[in-house]
Amino acid sequence: MRFDKDNYQIENITIGEKSIDIRAFRNIIYVDKPVCEEFQRMNIFAPEKYYSGEKINGYSIKTAPIFMPNMVGGYMPGIVGEPAGMPWERKDVPNTFFRALQHGYVVVIPAIRGRVLKNETGEYIGKAPACVVDYKAAVRYLRYFAKDIPGDVEKIITNGTSAGGALSSLMGATGNNPDYEIYLEEIGAAKERDDIFAASCYCPIINLENADVAYEWQFLGVNDYHRMHMNMDEGGRPQFTPIDGEMSSEQIKVSKDLASLFPCYVNSLNLKDEAGNSLTLSPDGNGTFKDYMKKIVLDSVRHAMETGIDVLDKKWLSFVDGTVVDMDWYEYAKDITRMKTAPAFDALTMDSPENDLFGNSDVNMRHFTEYGLANSKVVGEKAEDEVIKLMNPMSYIEKENAIKAKYWRIRHGECDRDTSLAISAILSLKLKENGCEVDYHSPWSIPHAGDYDLDELFEWIDGLCKNDMKK
Ligand code: DHB
Repeated sequence: MRFDKDNYQIENITIGEKSIDIRAFRNIIYVDKPVCEEFQRMNIFAPEKYYSGEKINGYSIKTAPIFMPNMVGGYMPGIVGEPAGMPWERKDVPNTFFRALQHGYVVVIPAIRGRVLKNETGEYIGKAPACVVDYKAAVRYLRYFAKDIPGDVEKIITNGTSAGGALSSLMGATGNNPDYEIYLEEIGAAKERDDIFAASCYCPIINLENADVAYEWQFLGVNDYHRMHMNMDEGGRPQFTPIDGEMSSEQIKVSKDLASLFPCYVNSLNLKDEAGNSLTLSPDGNGTFKDYMKKIVLDSVRHAMETGIDVLDKKWLSFVDGTVVDMDWYEYAKDITRMKTAPAFDALTMDSPENDLFGNSDVNMRHFTEYGLANSKVVGEKAEDEVIKLMNPMSYIEKENAIKAKYWRIRHGECDRDTSLAISAILSLKLKENGCEVDYHSPWSIPHAGDYDLDELFEWIDGLCKNDMKK
């Protein structure tokens, strides 16, 4: 494994009025024994000014935070990114990488293996836990070559959206845990630490083995579903067609079955709110945890109102003297609409992205819940508990031998229907309980999306890093 600090290009990128000179180190294979070079390499970009001793935003080549986003979506392979944008992207709007560089961050974008990859002999090489293992290997590489890598390897901030947000949360929750070691050794990852400074997670699709029950708890009784189907047209551009339907009576029964299992899961977590009150659910799905979830949505509403957004059309909100005081959870779920049929993740027909994620080298799709296995329509297998565990940050938060990122920023849009809002709320609560500093918010009227508030994200990163630099 090597890093050639003299092998780079200096480039100018101009987007609209904005221009930056960068030093680009591209296509660096970050492991010694790659199984897929295309998706086990990364790009490293630094503002060129740093190499003449200049500072940007108070940072120098030694102190600049390393912003390390991933481009994973849908647990598919994540490509390496470019601050000038990919050929198919808009050229007039600066992307996340460009803006991060302009802000003074070093930007490292690792490609990451995903669920559909195969080798020449037809074996799958990107099934769980490959994606998190690759991300870790990339972090280890940076530490291994810290002397020559621009930026401060003790200030690595991962970032991602959806499945990418899940990976960022795994990076934040599982630092240096020995469970991943055999997988890291297999690909020849550097013998280094892989814990990170901070994790930025947009709508993380995590806790997959409990996501079905959370989803049905949230959408119980909302039986019509609405989603977009994406196809590529002949020019390789995505085309969307709406899919609208009603769940069958069988799916409605599945929904009820699954929803009835959520209280048991929530109660097993011994959750407490910030004031130490326990958050639980009674068998009918009501209780202090539900009140807490309502509070998250109501905070979102209040925040929106403070910025002048009109929310009066939301009939599920109750107001007293112009102040929002309560909400109707069912009407809220109905209004944002259900996207997925029950079960939302571990499909009984075993054809969801997550079934695909949990395949292995020769089996493409597997179940990952007891319910899915017991009710499978295709007599599928279930992934090993160990593999399911490796993909869930919740399994590691309480473990002392998993080094947690101290700082977390978690955003999960108020009208996101890809996974239940309860999933990110539970993650945030558990992290806080275990000593992490978590900035959690559900932004109003934001669907399943990420990177929509980069000014605030960068302000948060600067706050953490500058505080740390003073110490
Ligand atoms: C993503 C979205 C999903 O609804 C899902 O189940 C898994 C991944 C994504 O956008 O990454």
